[in-house]
Amino acid sequence: METGHVTFDRVTKQFDTLPVIAEPFSLSIARNEFIVFLGPSGCGKTTLMRMIGGLDTPSSGNIRLGGEIVEGPDWRRGMVSQSYSSFPWLTVAENVAFGMRYRKDLSAEDKLKRRDHYLKLVGLEEFADTFPNKVSGGMRQRVAIARTLAAGSEVLLMDEPFGALDALRRESLQVELRRLQRQDAKTIVFVTHDVDEAAFLADRVVVFSKRPARITAIVDVTTQIGPERTIALRESAEFFKLRTQLLQAVRLSGEVDE
Ligand SMILES: Nc1ncnc2c1ncn2[C@@H]1O[C@H](COP(=O)(O)OP(=O)(O)O)[C@@H](O)[C@H]1O
Ligand SMILES: [Mg+2]
Repeated sequence: METGHVTFDRVTKQFDTLPVIAEPFSLSIARNEFIVFLGPSGCGKTTLMRMIGGLDTPSSGNIRLGGEIVEGPDWRRGMVSQSYSSFPWLTVAENVAFGMRYRKDLSAEDKLKRRDHYLKLVGLEEFADTFPNKVSGGMRQRVAIARTLAAGSEVLLMDEPFGALDALRRESLQVELRRLQRQDAKTIVFVTHDVDEAAFLADRVVVFSKRPARITAIVDVTTQIGPERTIALRESAEFFKLRTQLLQAVRLSGEVDE
């Protein structure tokens, strides 16, 4: 089997006896590829992400990162989850800096620069000294995103990270995330149930069925709309065509008749 940066090899998962991923799941994700998992709520997307992150283990099969089987959490795989995972006893700026605690290769000055850069990127520079419980849920989510980006993990695992954000902030973070991924050569696995978001961000979209999850389609996005993603692209005919194709794949996967 071909080995990518992240490789799923015949992975299944059940909780007690209830299958979540019933059909063995195999997928090879290339280095610097932006993969989006698109599927209905409850199908098993978070479970898959937790397994890549080493927070849960497959019932059979394995997941490898750069050839090594994933056996536990590791800073090379940074997780941004759908719940707001900031530390309440640290300020917003300290939360972002916390992501770099394992980076012995960075000087204290570089860490401060990175911290401030990513705070600004997510629009939180004015809240640097505020505690997370004093800002909105959407802002806490931006803290978690900034922390993971600042850490510089090779693989970013993003589980519906923009779900709680308003439309404009969401759009600008999508553009920014895509730019960052191309610039910093990141492998990203991103979960969403939003067809537009999947089409805009992905190199490839993996469409899942309802639980128990199986892959119903893999749509190659970059061959259709190219690697460059700008706000203007959303208005284009190619984007519309791609979106329609993804919607059809989602319908076929059985989400709509729920
Ligand atoms: N720790 C667990 N124990 C038992 N069932 C679980 C556990 N975690 C998730 N599930 C169940 O597995 C299914 C998939 O959940 P999840 O991966 O969170 O789906 P998604 O992220 O696609 O919404 C759901 O039916 C959920 O209730
Ligand atoms: Mg989920």
